[in-house]
Amino acid sequence: MSDPATPRKSLYIETVGCQMNVLDSELIVAQLRRDGYELTDDLHQADAILYNTCSVRQHAEDKIYSALGRIKHLKQRRPDVQIGVIGCMAQKDQKQILHRAPHVDLVVGPGQIGRVSELLQTAQLEQKPQMAVSLARNAGKTLDVLDTFPTYDPDRAPEPTPQGATPHQAFVRIQMGCDKFCTYCIVPSVRGPEQGRPPELIVEEARRLLAQGVKEITLLGQTVNSYTYRHGDGRTTRLSDLLALLHDLDGLLRLKFVTNFPLDMTDDLLQAVRDLRRVSRYLHVPAQSGCDEVLRRMKRLYTVAQYDEMMGRIRETVPDCAVSSDFIVGFCGETEASFQKSMELVERSRFKNSFIFKYSPRAGTKADDRFADDVPEEVKKRRNLELLALQNAISVEDNRPLIGQTVEVLVEGPSKAAGKRSEDDPSGIGVTQMTGRTSCDRIVVFTGNLRQAGHLLPVVVDQVSAVTLIGRVVTSESESVPVAEAALS
Ligand code: 5AD
Ligand code: SF4
Repeated sequence: MSDPATPRKSLYIETVGCQMNVLDSELIVAQLRRDGYELTDDLHQADAILYNTCSVRQHAEDKIYSALGRIKHLKQRRPDVQIGVIGCMAQKDQKQILHRAPHVDLVVGPGQIGRVSELLQTAQLEQKPQMAVSLARNAGKTLDVLDTFPTYDPDRAPEPTPQGATPHQAFVRIQMGCDKFCTYCIVPSVRGPEQGRPPELIVEEARRLLAQGVKEITLLGQTVNSYTYRHGDGRTTRLSDLLALLHDLDGLLRLKFVTNFPLDMTDDLLQAVRDLRRVSRYLHVPAQSGCDEVLRRMKRLYTVAQYDEMMGRIRETVPDCAVSSDFIVGFCGETEASFQKSMELVERSRFKNSFIFKYSPRAGTKADDRFADDVPEEVKKRRNLELLALQNAISVEDNRPLIGQTVEVLVEGPSKAAGKRSEDDPSGIGVTQMTGRTSCDRIVVFTGNLRQAGHLLPVVVDQVSAVTLIGRVVTSESESVPVAEAALS
């Protein structure tokens, strides 16, 4: 905790990218709070401005470089303001960031975020920019490289509580890095080698978060279902074991994990999802393409037949499970015929939703070295829209049977559209539009009450769209119909 005599400083932090980044930002905020920083959402007032960045696609990087350009004048007017670039882009571009934006004070890779506070102080004392990045994967012996990607989350201290999107949700990292090296992907070089965190640390962290009122824990890993931890005595703990260890902890209502790699979707894991009722009936398993030739060039290590077989096992073992996917359109050499195969995979897989991305070449990846980015931007755009339109049509079609059914919703909080308190709430008791999710990860919007956040509620579905169910909280016995999706606990 900070010394009460220390003057408060304010911190503005902007986060782009995946859930790993959201968690990293929480940890940085917790770290700086202990130094006396308070969060502000006005960057003009801030003493420190941090950008937690993403390198997965060019667009995400462009956004950060433009933001840095826009705040240059701030630094000219108030030279004491400290500006930091954290995360994957910091690891990837390193000194280039200081060349392109000399007003930056701090460049910190994702393996070094535990040092942000120390480096801010050094930058101020020495009046020169500070950089902390991990070793490149080919820059030394494996153990030396691993040393620069610590497997602990040092800033998840008991107090203050670092929170997820709402006070009831928390991310817990169980795996760092990635060893798959898909040819298009920058992640293995910026987030380092795959390492599973020790299960004892994970359980301890989960226990602490639950004691602080967290109800839903999402386990994070780039290929979370490859999680394996080898103990000193030769035992191994897999993801299915970890789910069982966490499932009965006091206070836990929902347990999720993202993101899965198709080849590692083993039967023990599917059986754990089936048997452990607090585990969400939801699996995110990116396919990336429906064409074998493209998958081979992406080095995804599986064929379309293997992906189909995996979908078959999911449907058979956990019939009430929703599956979502990621696709890249316009990857090098993707023909119209190969794209059609992705359309067919979406058509037959009945994903709950798909995240669809236009291929973006990344310097330093195998695809960028070896293949031409030969699909024109216009074609990428058209394929993106076509695949999305097909997926949306399927999502609406598959949501429609839920009309009239009761779903169990873990309430998150007021919906984005609703203010903290609705204007037509003369009673002042907090009636407003609330949002939450079903066990299958479907978003549900209903008229409710702020006090319902963090609770499980039965909601009857009245209307559906591709991404949202609109419903009413079940209030009387007569309205209660058999529960769709997962059973009420
Ligand atoms: N271009 C476009 N999309 C990409 N993804 C990863 N790398 C790239 C790239 N170079 C997508 C994949 C992955 C998701 C997180 O981002 O679909 O699953
Ligand atoms: Fe990137 Fe492939 Fe690893 Fe996912 S599995 S993070 S796409 S290299």
